[in-house]
Amino acid sequence: MGRRKLVVGNWKMNGLRAQLGEVEAIGAAAAAHPSVEVGLCLPATLIASAQAVSGAAFVGAQDCHMKDSGAHTGCLSAAMLAEAGASWTIVGHSERRQDQGESDADVAAKALAAKAAGLKVILCVGESLDVRDAGNAEAVVSAQLLASLPDGAAADWLAIAYEPIWAIGTGRIPTMEAVEAMHRALRTALGGRIGAADAGGMRILYGGSMNGDNAAELMAIEDVDGGLVGGASLTAAKFAPVIAAAG
Ligand code: 13P
Repeated sequence: MGRRKLVVGNWKMNGLRAQLGEVEAIGAAAAAHPSVEVGLCLPATLIASAQAVSGAAFVGAQDCHMKDSGAHTGCLSAAMLAEAGASWTIVGHSERRQDQGESDADVAAKALAAKAAGLKVILCVGESLDVRDAGNAEAVVSAQLLASLPDGAAADWLAIAYEPIWAIGTGRIPTMEAVEAMHRALRTALGGRIGAADAGGMRILYGGSMNGDNAAELMAIEDVDGGLVGGASLTAAKFAPVIAAAG
């Protein structure tokens, strides 16, 4: 449907200046696949220095605060991240929903704050293993998406990442049929909120143990428009094959 594949690395709490060479090499891999939009969501401390060497790969953040400024010790506003060189940010990653207790409403507010600062947004959703085993993952994740979706959600500034929590960092992934069914369900849910045409243009990424061995099969699924990649994005050697699989 004309959706450009989006492949983004999430370095989580990994990366020092010693890893800037990997950023540069990932930028070169991105340049070799111009049909794919490639980025790295990095620790905030690396954003400015990475931006200077990342070439064809954009640099993003992993979270932002929902407020513009104020007494929030240790937090970073979207404008600060944009000024440092971020052009995107993740919001609502399951690790923050769990570790920092972020609610769906918080996630929607963060997405709006990011947009106001000119950042594009990857909004994460995904089910626990209990929910998957109970057999109602599509309904639960669709509801989570609609509750987290900011007003004015549109494909030109927002992408969705479906990340089953039990697949993150475990080497386990859902069956291809389950991924296909979930992405179709999420697009249908989006369509009910923003209209089928706009939902048809929005990118829905898969995340959770994506790597060079499984990326091509995952990204060949009709409604899978790219990937949000953790462990396999930390080096160019591992991430370049994922980028290539999207191209
Ligand atoms: P892994 O690719 O390490 O499973 O992490 C996925 C993820 O959480 C990306 O945001």
